[in-house]
Amino acid sequence: MQSLFSLCVAAASLLLVASDVVTNFHDIPECLDFFYKGNVPDWVQASRDTVRICQRFQNQYHFATLYDASHRIAVYSAYVFEPSNGGGREKRWFVEPQLVDPSWQGEMRDGYWLGQDNPDIYLGERQALNEDYTNSGFDRGHLNPNGHHAVPGRNSTFTLTNVVPQNPKLNQNAWKDYEMKLTNTFRSRCWKAHVLVGAIPSANNWIVKNNVRRVNIPEFIWNAYCCMDHNGRPVLSGGATALNSEQNVVQERTLDELQGFLQQYSDAPVGDLFRAQCQA
Ligand SMILES: *[C@@H]1O[C@H](CO)[C@@H](O)[C@H](O)[C@H]1NC(C)=O
Repeated sequence: MQSLFSLCVAAASLLLVASDVVTNFHDIPECLDFFYKGNVPDWVQASRDTVRICQRFQNQYHFATLYDASHRIAVYSAYVFEPSNGGGREKRWFVEPQLVDPSWQGEMRDGYWLGQDNPDIYLGERQALNEDYTNSGFDRGHLNPNGHHAVPGRNSTFTLTNVVPQNPKLNQNAWKDYEMKLTNTFRSRCWKAHVLVGAIPSANNWIVKNNVRRVNIPEFIWNAYCCMDHNGRPVLSGGATALNSEQNVVQERTLDELQGFLQQYSDAPVGDLFRAQCQA
């Protein structure tokens, strides 16, 4: 009995040190579930140092992010829509410990406290930090929006690997309205909705701190969704793009149009965003 107990303890601690930064999203089944029928749109550009993060908070996976550690913004976050259950806004901003040191325990951590606990280690080598955004003139614009989740999934969207420098007017107006429109659509017409939200980096526009190019200010933000009925059949799909500027305009697009749009900014083929482009 005693040895069975120790075995359980060993197994439990193995789970606790499980990795969030993975070689492949297929490594963690719960992570693959965020993608429609397990289809991972994985276009990778040679110039970009991409990392796959299974976003974990409170020992539970909440969404997946393909993160570009050279531009310090995500390529995209993938999630499943959940109706919000109200409550306040998370006040902390999290960082991914395994982007600081792969041997550190996974699960996102409050960047402020992680910094206090490790004063000699710089956390921002491969990810953006909260201080990068301070006085930058840009919002920490959520890709996976907190309004599309219930607590504690909602808290987990406040990780700096899920936000990009977004024009404040766009973030607080047209993009927010689009997110709310999706909320209504998903609630009324879908049993389950898979969503991808991404950013296209700019060629030469950065948040610069102490003469260091810290965080790329993306040129565009984009969204794609595929939703299904209770039999798992796709019923609705679409997407949108927005120039990240004062213009404050969101252009809605079909998945095919979006794929063509993304291809213009990729030197690798952009495959289906959802399996069979969300067709039955
Ligand atoms: C999530 O955020 C809410 C709102 O700030 C907070 O009250 C709650 O304690 C957080 N939950 C967890 C599990 O940290």
